[in-house]
Amino acid sequence: MNKKYIAPSLLSSDFADLKTEIAKVTEAGAHLLHVDVMDGHFVPNLTIGMPVVKAIKGVSKLPLDVHLMIDKPEKYIEEFAKAGSDFLTIHVESTTTVKDCLIQIRKLKMKPGITLRPKTKLDDIKPFLALIDLVLIMTVEPGFGGQEFMHDQLEKVSWLKSYRDKNKLSYLIQIDGGVNEQTAQLCWEAGADVLVAGSAIFSGEKTPENYRANIQKLL
Ligand code: DX5
Ligand code: ZN
Repeated sequence: MNKKYIAPSLLSSDFADLKTEIAKVTEAGAHLLHVDVMDGHFVPNLTIGMPVVKAIKGVSKLPLDVHLMIDKPEKYIEEFAKAGSDFLTIHVESTTTVKDCLIQIRKLKMKPGITLRPKTKLDDIKPFLALIDLVLIMTVEPGFGGQEFMHDQLEKVSWLKSYRDKNKLSYLIQIDGGVNEQTAQLCWEAGADVLVAGSAIFSGEKTPENYRANIQKLL
């Protein structure tokens, strides 16, 4: 059986105490830190940018999995590399130069990722699957934590898994949005390698023990 990876979404953590939250979730057994970057244009929410990613990198031993929900990501790829992103995932709908972006991301020694909104068809990302290290299936409309899981997106996961096998590719399949104790098992069964979870991990007591228990429930 393949390894299962958990990437807590810092969006649901306590931003006033980010360094401590990162330490706790690391101690709790997280594998990656998922960082949601939103610009108020591509999605109707504004979160954090490069300076905060850089600050997170400075206090984290875990790889940073940066999810860009911004228009024209090509403007900022270099800065996200400098800030210390390890994975950099772009939305296929956010630029007309997807291929160039993915090539640039790799050139800058980051791992390229591609993602799509729930309503976008897999056909739109198919041309890029040989260029990436990670494909992210959104199981909520991007923009906010704490939304309900969209079950109909799981068929994309199964398709990506068999496409990967057939074509001898090696991308990781990640799922983001509404992942909790119930939906996590459906995600693994469909073929996910990495689950992102915000509210399910950062709920309850702010202790490493509680975060560990929350992570364990997803495995
Ligand atoms: C939504 C973000 C997610 C979000 C997940 O646009 O991409 O990473 O923080 O939060 P939960 O796990 O609460 O749905
Ligand atoms: Zn995300």
